[in-house]
Amino acid sequence: MKKMIGALRVLLALLVAAPLALPAQEIDPNHLPPSLDPKRTANGLAQTPPMGWNSWNKFACNVTEKTIRATADAIASNGMKEAGYQYVVIDDCWHGARDADGFITQDKDRFPSGIKALADYVHSKGLKFGIYSDAGKLTCGGRPGSQGHEYQDAIQYARWGVDYLKYDWCSTGTRNAEEAYALMADALRATGRDIVFSLCEWGQNKPWLWASKIGNLWRTTGDIWDSFDKQDKAHSWANNMLRIVDLNEPLWPFAGPGHWNDPDMLEVGNGGMSNAEYRSHFSLWAMMAAPLIAGNDVANMDAETRAILLNHDVIGVDQDPLGVQGRRVWKDGDQEAWVKPLSGGRRAVLFFNRGAKAAPTQVAWEALGYPPALKAQVRDLWAHRPLAASAGRLGATVQPHDVVMLLVTPLG
Ligand code: GLA
Repeated sequence: MKKMIGALRVLLALLVAAPLALPAQEIDPNHLPPSLDPKRTANGLAQTPPMGWNSWNKFACNVTEKTIRATADAIASNGMKEAGYQYVVIDDCWHGARDADGFITQDKDRFPSGIKALADYVHSKGLKFGIYSDAGKLTCGGRPGSQGHEYQDAIQYARWGVDYLKYDWCSTGTRNAEEAYALMADALRATGRDIVFSLCEWGQNKPWLWASKIGNLWRTTGDIWDSFDKQDKAHSWANNMLRIVDLNEPLWPFAGPGHWNDPDMLEVGNGGMSNAEYRSHFSLWAMMAAPLIAGNDVANMDAETRAILLNHDVIGVDQDPLGVQGRRVWKDGDQEAWVKPLSGGRRAVLFFNRGAKAAPTQVAWEALGYPPALKAQVRDLWAHRPLAASAGRLGATVQPHDVVMLLVTPLG
């Protein structure tokens, strides 16, 4: 009996080890990828919040290889690549059926050239390529999920050249989230390829408490949306974007290099909010060190949208190497002040007006964590000009649903 159990154990160990052994052979032990460096969190990737583009917010299930190619072309030529947008991610609905061996294939009508060719194309533009799956039997769009195929899917992604995986939480039944995400993280790590791992369980299991060693970013809330119904504008602004902000803001202590709170992808340019509201959305995401994943049609965007997504100063706040998530430090009715500590003793300050009327706002240096006698240089990051700071305090008039975003550099 003991012998039988021993033999079964060996068999089980072999079965479990089999998928690990295959890709591991490709790893040069003298040049371990950061993902295998045990000193780092999760996998050593995403030391600043990931930046890129994802198909879902604009194209949902209508995504095709043409969309992805056009998007990669646009990002590589319209300044977005230079601004830091890097990952081009196909969200749900790219999948076909599993083949006879259980490997996932693509939807052959929408992606006739195959995912490998598409990833090669994105790479040829100097960009990185991302894909989407789900920890359950089915994705949220009803395509095959990864449950029971984790190692096979990770191998397939690595073969295709995937650099980023968004991993959703539909059809997971009673699965334990931490275990399910850790299993996929192990499978990705075993491929030896650097793959940013994006957890998407909508904050249901408080991933900020356990996911920093598993993945690089975790959704903290339900889905963002941007209404196209002109009558419905207040909805995408107040009921959706601001609701997400208020859920994500208190989680600031859990973010840091390699592991970020993800309040969902950007809606800038999708038509349901005004430009002031999009400016607020983008600024708040930068203050919260959120991943900046554009979600609009970047191949056909207007100048205002472009100016928001390409504000290098605001992006610089998001991408600051200190990696501290900013937070609200002052609130009076609809008026708020936020602070994000930056490298070199600098700070980003955001005055935010949720209300319908322009309002003067001012805060004392102390509220921003500075000594009252501080001398500093202040720059307005949307007006692109210096702002004179009066003694001991900082103030500005903020337009309705808009922001004034400032960079404070202490002198001396
Ligand atoms: C979930 C996710 C979204 C998107 C869709 C795709 O709702 O939260 O971001 O990926 O699934 O079906």
